[in-house]
Amino acid sequence: MASHSRAADALRAAPAADGAPDLRELARLGTLAANSHNTQPWRFELVQDRIRLRPDLARRCPVVDPDDAHLWRSLGCAAENIVQGAQGQALAADVLVQDGVVEIRLTPKQPAPPDALLDAIVHRQCCKVPYDGAPLTGAEVAALAEAGTLAGARAEVVSDPTQKARIAELVAEGNRAQMGDPAFRAELIGWMRFSDRTAIARGDGLAGRVLGLPSVPDWLGRRIVGLFLSPERQAKSDRRLIDTSPALAVIVAPGDGPAPWVDAGRASQRLQLQATALGLASAFLNQPIEVPALRPRLEALLGLVPPERAHLMLRLGRGPRQPYSLRRPLAEMIAPG
Ligand SMILES: Cc1cc2nc3c(=O)[nH]c(=O)nc-3n(C[C@H](O)[C@H](O)[C@H](O)COP(=O)(O)O)c2cc1C
Repeated sequence: MASHSRAADALRAAPAADGAPDLRELARLGTLAANSHNTQPWRFELVQDRIRLRPDLARRCPVVDPDDAHLWRSLGCAAENIVQGAQGQALAADVLVQDGVVEIRLTPKQPAPPDALLDAIVHRQCCKVPYDGAPLTGAEVAALAEAGTLAGARAEVVSDPTQKARIAELVAEGNRAQMGDPAFRAELIGWMRFSDRTAIARGDGLAGRVLGLPSVPDWLGRRIVGLFLSPERQAKSDRRLIDTSPALAVIVAPGDGPAPWVDAGRASQRLQLQATALGLASAFLNQPIEVPALRPRLEALLGLVPPERAHLMLRLGRGPRQPYSLRRPLAEMIAPG
């Protein structure tokens, strides 16, 4: 545990306090964003007054994400960290999505006072264990909904127990579909890192520590995990995760394609940063969006009107701090501009 914590903490130095423009530092903050299966599917190009984010297609997840929607949402999460980080360097940031690239244009602006979302970047995490069930306050819900609304996207916060139970049913159905699919399981297990040694050496993927598990040899982990990833077990454990989370948030944006995917990723990242700033825990549960047959049913439950579509779902509540996830060395993710 100590070695995993040391490696994870070393990545999370607070943003430099002198506020001088530093694109490499902004890229570092970008890499700390949420991203699907912790694949870190991005390349950062640092070019004078802008940062370009390009998909790293070698890190696709073709089974769970055949159209690369999660990949682009992950780029959106990284872009939002850069936007928030830029504030601390007295830079305004505009995000454009065009020709297969997310471009963040930076222009000087007046220095801003210290900002809670900027401070939250290095502390944010997906907390993937049960929460304590205590309700959110009205002020917390309002702050989260506001944080999750940007560009074309918005956050629909669901606290009503009946509505939550209906959504939990969709998650359970999603688990049955996904965990019953050998290709889905193989892809997921391929991104799992069972031993601290492998997690640290690779710097990517889903480390057992982050999932609340001890470090075990990789061969043993692969053998045991098959028992846990059964459709019914997963449905039961996700049911508990939802029951102990007082609210869900669905990120909604118009249509599909790189631009709404990036907007949705940005909105989810901003919502997670706000949750972190409020001392709240959050994590994704995307089964009803990933399984194509379930997505329209989730959208109907929420009363969404086309072109609005559901893009991501998170649960929110009060939970423990968990070990942080790891990242690859920054140099591996920076491409010459
Ligand atoms: C687009 C996207 C999809 C994700 N889907 C899931 C999911 O379905 N289930 C889950 O537990 N985590 C999901 N995550 C969270 C990632 O596993 C997590 O961000 C990654 O492991 C890095 O960990 P961190 O966010 O704690 O830094 C998703 C994240 C993103 C951005």
